[in-house]
Amino acid sequence: MLTIETPATRIAAEARSALRPFLNAYWLRPENAFWMALRSAVLRQSPVAGPSIDVSCGDGVFSFLHAGGEFSPDFDVFQAVTRLDDVHTRHADMFDGAAGDFQPQIINPPTWRYDVGCDLKPSLLAKAARLGVYSDLKQHDNNAPLPFADGAFATVYCNSAYWVTDIDGFLAELRRITRGDGHAILHVKLKAMGAYTLEAHEDRLGGEFLRIIGRGRHACWPTLATRSEWERRFDRAGFSIERATPFISATHARVWDIGLRPIAPLLVRMANALTAENRASIKRDWVALFDALLAPLCAPDFALGEVEEEPAEIQYLLHP
Ligand SMILES: C[S@@+](CC[C@H](N)C(=O)[O-])C[C@H]1O[C@@H](n2cnc3c(N)ncnc32)[C@H](O)[C@@H]1O
Repeated sequence: MLTIETPATRIAAEARSALRPFLNAYWLRPENAFWMALRSAVLRQSPVAGPSIDVSCGDGVFSFLHAGGEFSPDFDVFQAVTRLDDVHTRHADMFDGAAGDFQPQIINPPTWRYDVGCDLKPSLLAKAARLGVYSDLKQHDNNAPLPFADGAFATVYCNSAYWVTDIDGFLAELRRITRGDGHAILHVKLKAMGAYTLEAHEDRLGGEFLRIIGRGRHACWPTLATRSEWERRFDRAGFSIERATPFISATHARVWDIGLRPIAPLLVRMANALTAENRASIKRDWVALFDALLAPLCAPDFALGEVEEEPAEIQYLLHP
């Protein structure tokens, strides 16, 4: 049968091949792995020209894998987590710990690197510094002006704009540091995501159920907006839209809404109590199983519903 290649089929094929490396790194949160595989696949449609920056780069693991870096199968991000006891009660970030125990076993370095990565959290930057995917790293709070000259970057990438409270100020800053002939690539979540959760069923599920499932993540997203509101924001910031590519569907968001999140701290404790041999052997079978299970979801337009719904996340390619 002849398969006609569309952007969606190309992204699906690339997400399918990215799934296993992301599962290897994030095996205990397989729902994050398929999301990142799709993110990496859609990002591949807009190559990164230098000088480049990854704004809110976190621990850099996503960009390391996206840029072709390869970890040993024995490595994963859960080996160096902390504050597991606080994850449920205080909504602590289990990855925001000291970087001392973070020992990425790198088999192949990335094939390219960003010139700069920046993030709010020094502990995450210290981890990112070990991956060789950023030439320079800077600590920065996106609620303040970005510490870079006008037009400093040909490519500005950010997948975390929804964490910023002053979104207009932040987008104007992204626009300011983007070179006139360059572009910004933003991955933005839509307000519709709020409807792809179980929150509407609180009357039957109860507050405690939703607290356990939610683990406070919605509090981190002050600036979700509808598609048209995001587009008005880009316009106000002085960006024009070259391309908009939805890559996370309503169905993806519903699967991700629960995933293994509620039990992740327990899974991490259990996995980290195993001998190295047992951990490696269980992880191998686990990754193979989720690779097969999640393969059908690796399409940007994957939808099980009858009616068309707003996507949950869109990649925007923007020009100043
Ligand atoms: C969901 S993570 C994404 C990290 C990374 N881009 C990735 O794809 O793995 C969101 C990131 O935003 C960062 N962040 C949150 N608020 C921030 C702020 N006000 N200024 C800068 N970074 C912030 C967090 O530290 C975290 O690393």
